[in-house]
Amino acid sequence: MTQEFLSPADVAASRRPLAEALTLPPAAYTDEGLWHVEKARVLARSWLPLARLDQVPEAGDYLSADLGGEPVMVVRGEDGAVRVLSRVCRHRAALVAEGQGCRKLFTCPYHAWSYDTAGALVRAPLMEGSEGFDPAMLGLREIRSEIWEGFVMATLDADAPAFAPQVSGLADYLANYNLGGFVVARTLDYAHGWNWKVLAENFMEAYHHIAAHSKTLEPGYHARDSQVPDTDQPWSVLHMPAADREAPQPPVPGLEDWQLRDLIAAIAFPGLMLAMQGPFMAWYQMTPLAAGQLDLKIHLCFPDWMQGLDDYAAIVDGAEASIRGVHEEDIAANDLVWAGLNAPLSRAGPLSPLEKSIWQMNQWWLGKMGA
Ligand code: FES
Ligand SMILES: [Fe+2]
Repeated sequence: MTQEFLSPADVAASRRPLAEALTLPPAAYTDEGLWHVEKARVLARSWLPLARLDQVPEAGDYLSADLGGEPVMVVRGEDGAVRVLSRVCRHRAALVAEGQGCRKLFTCPYHAWSYDTAGALVRAPLMEGSEGFDPAMLGLREIRSEIWEGFVMATLDADAPAFAPQVSGLADYLANYNLGGFVVARTLDYAHGWNWKVLAENFMEAYHHIAAHSKTLEPGYHARDSQVPDTDQPWSVLHMPAADREAPQPPVPGLEDWQLRDLIAAIAFPGLMLAMQGPFMAWYQMTPLAAGQLDLKIHLCFPDWMQGLDDYAAIVDGAEASIRGVHEEDIAANDLVWAGLNAPLSRAGPLSPLEKSIWQMNQWWLGKMGA
């Protein structure tokens, strides 16, 4: 039980109604023992995004990732199907691929066993004298996956409920944006020395606009105006209305004025994080690596129809500049939080009503942890 790591009093304090609730205690972020429990109970039992379909458009295209500690790759097979395969060789566990590229065969660098794009073992040199050797039983392990709005979602949990029904309300909320039509234009890579929840929480509230983004986001998106709808599903949406109520130009088919103007930060717990504004989506892809370590890719995505625009490159450059600028401010804030969470006298603190998304995710997380 998590009581070993989280005291009943801490759990009860985080479980109170939002107006009285405290944050999770610092150990929920910093404790190495708790991290291993969290990895098994939360990360290994949840759906996490690994790629967009447009990142593996051709047969043989693959993209490596880490799913709860399992080295995996998203591969488009010769049959056109997109699969998530373990990258661990079935002989003596060397990784058969790293990074990304396009291949007909994945040949292990150690003893040259070769797997096809569906993971089948098609060649294993010098194994003739091995009794009971059955290539059919030794394909790369396939990881359970599901395509949702162009995202390749995967889970290590064979018994997890399907993803799409859990986020039907989120799909409805974002329907006008047509998420499935977005393509990745550029990816920004970061490595951060914090717990993944520090980043997720930072992503989910606009309260910090008043200080951390006082000159960048706050003038255009006032913290006090931000709203979070109630939901009984494992996702949260932060709506940040624009201070300027003018109808933005040019209009985009399918999107209402407020959807062009306002910022939306959506999260499907624990790790599908999307920042939307009109025909722009920043997908924050976290890879938690240790209690205090994560990799982050921020994918700048636009609807496919925008790729033909004359100024597309300039639009992507502009998006990169503004995302990088805001993220630098978030890095500075998260570094301070991480230093404080690791301090011996650090304790849980009260939440603002503007931090409802954090409270929502805490309830979900405590449930997953069995607290
Ligand atoms: S470990 Fe892959 S072929 Fe030996
Ligand atoms: Fe921020």
